[in-house]
Amino acid sequence: TLKRRVVAHLLRNQLREPLQKLLFHIGEVGDFLGQNVFVVGGFVRDLLLRQENFDIDVVVEGDGIGFAEEFGRRHGCRVRAHRKFATAVLVFPDGFKIDVASARTEYYLEPGALPTVETASIKLDLYRRDFTINTLAIAMNRAHFGELLDYFGGQSDLREKAIRVLHNLSFVEDPTRMFRAIRFEQRLAFQLGRHTEHLLKSAVRMGFLEKVSGPRVFNEMLLILREPDPLPAIARLDELGLLAYIHPRMSCRSEINRLLAAAKRTVDWYELLYTGEGCQRWQVFFLCLFSGLDESEVNQVLRHLGMPPRYAEFFGPERETVHRIVHQLEWRCSQRRNLSNSEVYRMLRELPIEALLYGMARTEHEEARRLMSHFVTHLRSVVSLIGGRDLQSMGLKPGPCYGEILNKLVAARLDGLVSTREDELRLVRRLLAG
Ligand code: CTP
Repeated sequence: TLKRRVVAHLLRNQLREPLQKLLFHIGEVGDFLGQNVFVVGGFVRDLLLRQENFDIDVVVEGDGIGFAEEFGRRHGCRVRAHRKFATAVLVFPDGFKIDVASARTEYYLEPGALPTVETASIKLDLYRRDFTINTLAIAMNRAHFGELLDYFGGQSDLREKAIRVLHNLSFVEDPTRMFRAIRFEQRLAFQLGRHTEHLLKSAVRMGFLEKVSGPRVFNEMLLILREPDPLPAIARLDELGLLAYIHPRMSCRSEINRLLAAAKRTVDWYELLYTGEGCQRWQVFFLCLFSGLDESEVNQVLRHLGMPPRYAEFFGPERETVHRIVHQLEWRCSQRRNLSNSEVYRMLRELPIEALLYGMARTEHEEARRLMSHFVTHLRSVVSLIGGRDLQSMGLKPGPCYGEILNKLVAARLDGLVSTREDELRLVRRLLAG
């Protein structure tokens, strides 16, 4: 096992100083309360992989909430306790958060159900986890600081780049782990162990996912689609029969695969241009996955996954709107008449950025794609120089005509008919006179 010296070295060299101090303080509070405290899970995994991770999970042998309260008192953190789970969140004044849990063991009374919980040793706490690479822990108490706990072969699996479950019933107890397995496999460029892959396939075959609620599956999909490059994971979900669980006809066969690749390029392009104003990448990818399904099949999925109403609206009716608008744009482009900026603007302005990016990925019409891209880069943010207040001071009564006039001003600006404030005021006067 990794020497304490080596881990201490990693802690010193991989982490910034404030984070190192924080770990010492965690140990200090543990010493003060006479509790063993550990940092566990993803943070340790990523430390050993030399990857940055700021999600600190602390496990306390004993009362985790008591630990959080003492730590909070000393370091000015707010404590949000969840008594039912014996866990707490420490919230620092700058918003930084740490999860604290009481070491516990869990029994699953039936597959897919939520577990029954009891306090336990750190070893049992680690045993209930999903994959061996997530079972590593580092001691924080002064006398043991930097000791690595590796009960289940986590280090050797990190070296072998293998995702392995701890026992044969892992996927049965918590079928969402199938999605997690693929997420880690693709994110870390690891591979499912042979036995683990076999267990996963039989869990799929035996339909254990049916026992998981739709929203939990949706949440796992969200986590996968939010990874920097979700495409290989999507292909793997398909290969292992997990996409089919979302809908029997959902798949990433050749043409959807092409669409996903185009979406990835488009989303990357957009984020490179607009580093500040991000987009919900996952929505673009989800639209691609839906594109092989018809309206009623999509609605089935939305109901099944229990999507929150705003998403259901986006993937349902709005998706139909995008298809219609892209189709219109393609048709008008094929008429070989040049569209003015304001015409393009009028067609596309209702669409959220995610829908536009999806539209760009989807169209095979070169000119339509160019216009959408022009809209995103140049037209979308155009506004008039004068506003409602100016109209008011021109003696115009507030009402729906404000919107109409302002729209006309934007259209004139898009088409290069006005440039200064004076131009705009002149145009308003002309509109009012006419
Ligand atoms: N866990 C689990 N089964 C699940 C979800 C989580 O066993 N269905 C365990 C994992 O061992 C994980 C820990 O709970 O290490 C914390 O979960 P999470 O924060 O989701 O995992 P991370 O490994 O931190 O993943 P990420 O890097 O994506 O944050």
